[in-house]
Amino acid sequence: MATKTRSRWVCQECGKQSLRYMGRCPSCGEFNTMVEEIIEVSRPGARAMQPRVVLPNSAPQRLTEVNTEEGQRLLVPMGEFNRVLGGGIVPGSIILIGGEPGIGKSTILIQTSAALAQTAGRVLYCSGEESARQIKMRADRLKLETDDLFLVTETNIKTILDHVYNIDPTVLVIDSIQTMYTDDSESSPGSVSQVRECASRLQMLAKTSGVSVFLVGHVTKEGNIAGPRVLEHLVDTVLYLEGDPFQSYRLLRSVKNRFGATSEVGVFEMTGMGMAEVPNPSEAFLAERVVAAPGTAIAVTMEGTRPLLVEIQALTSQTTFGNPRRTPNGVDYNRLLLISAVLSKRLGLKLHEQDIFINVVGGLNVDEPASDLAMAVALASSYFNQPTPADMAFVGEIGLSGELRTVGQLAARLAEAAKLGFKRVMTPRLRRKVVDAPKGLQLVEVRNIGEALAIAVPKD
Ligand SMILES: Nc1ncnc2c1ncn2[C@@H]1O[C@H](COP(=O)(O)OP(=O)(O)OP(=O)(O)O)[C@@H](O)[C@H]1O
Ligand SMILES: [Mg+2]
Ligand SMILES: [Zn+2]
Repeated sequence: MATKTRSRWVCQECGKQSLRYMGRCPSCGEFNTMVEEIIEVSRPGARAMQPRVVLPNSAPQRLTEVNTEEGQRLLVPMGEFNRVLGGGIVPGSIILIGGEPGIGKSTILIQTSAALAQTAGRVLYCSGEESARQIKMRADRLKLETDDLFLVTETNIKTILDHVYNIDPTVLVIDSIQTMYTDDSESSPGSVSQVRECASRLQMLAKTSGVSVFLVGHVTKEGNIAGPRVLEHLVDTVLYLEGDPFQSYRLLRSVKNRFGATSEVGVFEMTGMGMAEVPNPSEAFLAERVVAAPGTAIAVTMEGTRPLLVEIQALTSQTTFGNPRRTPNGVDYNRLLLISAVLSKRLGLKLHEQDIFINVVGGLNVDEPASDLAMAVALASSYFNQPTPADMAFVGEIGLSGELRTVGQLAARLAEAAKLGFKRVMTPRLRRKVVDAPKGLQLVEVRNIGEALAIAVPKD
């Protein structure tokens, strides 16, 4: 019996299927995401649906009897990577790493592969994008040498599964999932159907054999992992590698993790020798700080559970033509508008005739409202051409009437500021004392942005 095939329109964003073309996906609301794909309607004997590896028979267990002892996690020799994973790689888990082209996904994975091949067992690196020669050249440049790292240039998932069977690796790397295909689906590689089909094959492999799988995922220009949300549901952990391509810092951020906290961040630096971890990011981000320059303020922001000190720079300059410009780099545009509006309306700064540029040093994105105060202080500091105190860092969210609101995890932020040698931290008025505030660190509590500027940018 022949397989009947039919075409369907499939949303490349969320996987929604429809019989006819639609300009806007009714499920996720995205425009122009419907693509025609060939779908198999009936599969005789449902052959292709059967897992390659036979699952052990399922047997219900009492919850209390389920063995929770976690197998030994595989430790990546880069502490920052382990931190993002929640303490290492869980055997049999699938980890998706997304990121813009050229940000360093292949680099960090080949480094990790080589390191794991030395400590954890064999690693199979499958590339659908680069030739073995290209990968070898990269490995040579990074000075990676190991016998237990296997390379293959292959895009057929079935062949890859055969290689896995023969080589029996501890870790499998697929670079990238969008280049893989399986014969069971006739859609083109990279389409939602293919990506989903390939990913579920790999998931089956991971769950039944205990091989840990890394998937590289491309991102769209909106910054989502290309195509399918479905992919994010299938995998255990989703990491994004991000950073300003013109800067050397890279952040590895977990946005989903079945085995650890999310929004954990690992900080790396892209060097000629590959990704180097940055164990003291605050120090690195403040390294080039010019003390006593007007227009800068230090924010204490949280990335996951880790406090980070970052320098926010502002420049205001007289608008010469047309509407004043607002150029945020590393902060949220709307947040910048709100803070400018509060400074204009509550404190009378004439920002409507000023162009405003904001920059976060190090290429970081700071979208936490707790960095509002630092942004406002930096802005006012540039506007009045008055430097902010060198020994002071800033924490606080700004409300519409200019009031300062408390932020979470204050103790951790204060500890980081003290560690970096700051003597004072300006915070919103606290309702209760901070337990274990660092000794020698002075808290400068203020109620609103007016009080804050009177101290941080005094007009003599
Ligand atoms: N000789 C070199 N010295 C230093 N850095 C290099 C060198 N060659 C390449 N790079 C850096 O490596 C980056 C490419 O990294 P990589 O190939 O890991 O990115 P990727 O995320 O896998 O990209 P893609 O999505 O295209 O596969 C380049 O952007 C460049 O900055
Ligand atoms: Mg790559
Ligand atoms: Zn959709």
